[in-house]
Amino acid sequence: MSESGFTPRVFSGIQPSGGLTLGNYLGAMKRFVDMQEEGRFETIYCMVDLHAITVWQDPAALARNTRELCAGFIAAGIDPERSILFNQSQVPEHAQLAWIFNCVARMGWMQRMTQWKDKAGKNRENASLGLFAYPALMAADILIYHATHVPVGEDQKQHVELTRDIAAKFNHDYKVEFFPLCEPVIEGAATRVMSLRDGSKKMSKSDPSDMSRINMTDDADTIAKKIRKARTDPDPLPSEIDGLKDRPEARNLINIYAALSDTTPDKVLAEVGGKQFSEFKPMLSDLAVARLAPISAEMARLMADPAEIDRILTRGAERAREIAAPILRRTYDIVGMVGPAT
Ligand code: TYM
Repeated sequence: MSESGFTPRVFSGIQPSGGLTLGNYLGAMKRFVDMQEEGRFETIYCMVDLHAITVWQDPAALARNTRELCAGFIAAGIDPERSILFNQSQVPEHAQLAWIFNCVARMGWMQRMTQWKDKAGKNRENASLGLFAYPALMAADILIYHATHVPVGEDQKQHVELTRDIAAKFNHDYKVEFFPLCEPVIEGAATRVMSLRDGSKKMSKSDPSDMSRINMTDDADTIAKKIRKARTDPDPLPSEIDGLKDRPEARNLINIYAALSDTTPDKVLAEVGGKQFSEFKPMLSDLAVARLAPISAEMARLMADPAEIDRILTRGAERAREIAAPILRRTYDIVGMVGPAT
């Protein structure tokens, strides 16, 4: 138990809505591994398939992407024995708690979410109800385990803050101290990896241009080509961080380099300041290939045995339910839902 009375526990999730990008890896997965290795937390990681279907997913592609994402977690270093690794739909308590939170969260809170505004676009009337309620399901993912720490990229910060608001309102309305106020953990050089084509847009699996992102499954030639063609400016690299002001593309490549080499942007600039991009880009490609190739080779090896992946996910879901089921039952008791005594 920590000072707050809650077991230090990490929860995070990734949508199986396409291939894994370098943004997912550096902003999330690599840090999931660090938190597992730290040994200070119980770590729970989830493929959030219920979230994925808030926008249309081809069923065969969803199943394949879920297994591939599981392979990605393991290849990146998540140990399914030391962490709990599973897909969301196998643990029904997520959707059950999400319903309670749909009744706690306010429409106005949801309307302010930037991801909702971005994803629903101009045609809000035609967006799914699930897309609108998405953050309440995310709050349920976290709070069904009483998770205290949530490692995410910058773009998910607002959703984790909303999770705190939902927990606080539930606790207040029912006069309990039942749900923890979880902390977003947004650290490292690559909390917001940007598109290789446009330094003002985040790198995303849903960007129509494949040249905008590095996929974890890209081969060495493709990675080198994408980095070679990445948009930059004509100036040489600066020696200090201030020199990256108003140079979003340069800053992005430096941040990626720093995150891949487990160092800071300052240290990278101390080393590469004064170089032209024509010299720096091949250094970055070599580093990216050296870091990603073993992961993608291991993913391909694991994908050859989908039955083993399914066994890992089912075992992870069983372990997750052992934590989630009693928390759901206690939530129901607090709300006044009649059922077996706890
Ligand atoms: P998703 O699937 O969009 O992304 C998964 C994780 O990757 C991070 N990420 C990035 N980080 C840095 N730079 C980028 N370009 C980049 N792109 C993605 C995201 O911040 C995220 O951490 N709503 C979540 C999934 C989710 C979740 C949860 C997360 C569902 N329930 C509970 C934490 C806790 C999402 O759409 O992530």
